[in-house]
Amino acid sequence: MDWASPVYGAYRHTPEELVFGARLAWRNAARCIGRLYWRSLRVIDRREVTGADDVAAAAAEHLREAVRDGRRIRPVITVFAPDAPGRPGPRIWNEQLIRYAGYERPGGGVTGDPRNVGITALARRLGWPGGPGSAFDVLPLVIQGTDDKPRWFRLPPDAVLEVPIEHPEHPRWASLGLRWHAVPAIACMCLEIGGVCYPAAPFNGWYMGTEIGARNLADSDRYDLLPRVAELLGLDTASDRSLWKDRALVELNRAVLHSFDRAGVTMTDHHTESRRFLTHLGREESKGRTVGADWSWIVPPLSGSATPVFHRTYDTVERHPAYVHHPEALARTRGESGDALV
Ligand code: ARG
Repeated sequence: MDWASPVYGAYRHTPEELVFGARLAWRNAARCIGRLYWRSLRVIDRREVTGADDVAAAAAEHLREAVRDGRRIRPVITVFAPDAPGRPGPRIWNEQLIRYAGYERPGGGVTGDPRNVGITALARRLGWPGGPGSAFDVLPLVIQGTDDKPRWFRLPPDAVLEVPIEHPEHPRWASLGLRWHAVPAIACMCLEIGGVCYPAAPFNGWYMGTEIGARNLADSDRYDLLPRVAELLGLDTASDRSLWKDRALVELNRAVLHSFDRAGVTMTDHHTESRRFLTHLGREESKGRTVGADWSWIVPPLSGSATPVFHRTYDTVERHPAYVHHPEALARTRGESGDALV
């Protein structure tokens, strides 16, 4: 196909355009507090890849690249084939490259991460036999190659770094059996540059502790651990006004930061990252650029008002290039669509 011809309604980015476009898309991400390092994004150009097997192999390679020395995490994006008229690029149906299964229990309730019940059930329908049944079973990747049905692929264990969550003081904490994966790698967002859409373009940064300690492990529709943490700490849960939830949250977040530090795995905290974000704003403004930001995503879910990002407002401008959610991609990642294909 002659990509240079406008007849086909498509064109091909130069490698330089792809690299700069992916970095700009990060700089433009209004929900991301970690944008100070947008220039450091490493771009792996795999635009020749359209088949599910090759996407799966490259996704594992992406995760190895992201933690190449085993500990220090680097921001990486792998860009697969774009959508072209009449020829969609490949798709990764998972929300992130590494996520934990959520198994619905017959009597109600979920073992694992309730957020991933849909994709877990979908992987099972595609033939995944399921994991050992723990609360932290790593999901397989569900990938749809160009001109193909979705298929599942196990992630090689050496591509998945995990951190057991311990508490700096409470010896009984380990009985909770908590862990989390080291690398957050969003896989369900489309990278859009100059009208070209790359539907499979997984990207990662490193974690901020609160994402795990104040959301993934704490939200009542996720691992919902505050009651169990409060019990372990011997807090009075009879009244909200004892602030048992708040105290449990703080200890859970201390445990997350302590554990990543102990394991030597890169993780930022919400105080540091809030300061860095203001540095980023200052730098951008000194270059005459306004920074689009969404207050409700930028302010950390723990101790918001103790961080400087709370005490101001932001421009809500949306810019391209961008990482965008497409409605059908969201439905796929939740396992709400795709039955016809399976
Ligand atoms: N909040 C998401 C999670 O806990 C990850 C989002 C991206 N985070 C990041 N630090 N790059 O899994």
